[in-house]
Amino acid sequence: KETVVSGIRPTGKLHLGNYFGAVTNFVKMQYDYNCYFFIADLHSLTTHPTPQDLHGYVRHVLVEYLACGINPEETTIYIQSDVPEVAELYLYLNMNAYMGELERSTSFKDKIRSQPDNVNAGLLTYPTLMAADILIHKATKVPVGKDQEQHLEMTRTFGNRFNRLYNAEYFPEAYAFNYSENLVKVPGLDGKGKMSKSNGEGSCIYLSDSPEIIRKKLSRAVTDGGPTQEHQQKPEAIQNLFDLMKIVSSPDTLAHFDELYNKMAIRYGDFKKQLAEDMILANAPIRERIEELSKDTLYLRQVAKHGALKARESAQKTIKEVRQLIGFKPF
Ligand code: TYM
Repeated sequence: KETVVSGIRPTGKLHLGNYFGAVTNFVKMQYDYNCYFFIADLHSLTTHPTPQDLHGYVRHVLVEYLACGINPEETTIYIQSDVPEVAELYLYLNMNAYMGELERSTSFKDKIRSQPDNVNAGLLTYPTLMAADILIHKATKVPVGKDQEQHLEMTRTFGNRFNRLYNAEYFPEAYAFNYSENLVKVPGLDGKGKMSKSNGEGSCIYLSDSPEIIRKKLSRAVTDGGPTQEHQQKPEAIQNLFDLMKIVSSPDTLAHFDELYNKMAIRYGDFKKQLAEDMILANAPIRERIEELSKDTLYLRQVAKHGALKARESAQKTIKEVRQLIGFKPF
């Protein structure tokens, strides 16, 4: 079986972007591959969370992984910081990652813009930590959304460079994966760009959002004055809402509103109401399970402990071999 790795940063609750970009694939892949799904708490330190927030969000993501249907019997679910071998591999990979290539990463450039007061070395070396996550289990498939594609390219670069430096065919190449043809980009409700916490709370629908909150967020979603001619190309804000409808609604519903738009007969109020109801339906079973699982600390502790053991077993094997290749050998 091929090995699969993916992770999510515990920077908040999971939103529909995380769900449709990544987690739905995790759930499907767990039966076909040897899967490692983790909570990237080390990565989240770049934004300096308080210890309480960090702990709470890690717990939350763990609950949400399980609520979405990731099965700890089939896969390895773990918390990144429980596997110190990842940090060790990160150190080795940093020795042959170059400033120029790290500075050129688009996620780094975005961060310089969004958090100019905190451009720390962890942000710069974010891609080497991510490469360590993937290479530590020698994974070949990584289910992620479109925004992570460049990081995967860098992971291949670092892995291949390590192989060349130590003259070994050691790390395999890992590729971004999605069951559908293309990697997914789930748009936000703010009229521009992807669904993302950094685009503001109003841009995101969380898996744990109640029906009332979903309706309220949708009613505030950005639209425009309506089409001014038949079969007009949709502006970004409208196209985004249609893209969301494509994800959560039935093909018939989508076709219905598409036709209304083309005939200039669409009423955005109705359109957004329908979209809200379909999102509520998609969320409902997950939301219920989130509530149940949140109470079960004993079970969560058991899942995390069991996952850490399994993940460390795989990671220790790799680190041992990497140390040999590098030349750290006993006398
Ligand atoms: P993060 O925490 O930003 O996002 C987690 C996952 O959700 C996907 N995603 C989206 N997909 C589609 N549309 C959106 N609007 C959207 N928003 C988020 C992301 O593509 C991602 O798959 N660097 C990673 C975490 C990470 C990781 C790894 C992933 C650390 N190490 C190793 C894979 C393998 C990140 O910041 O994801």
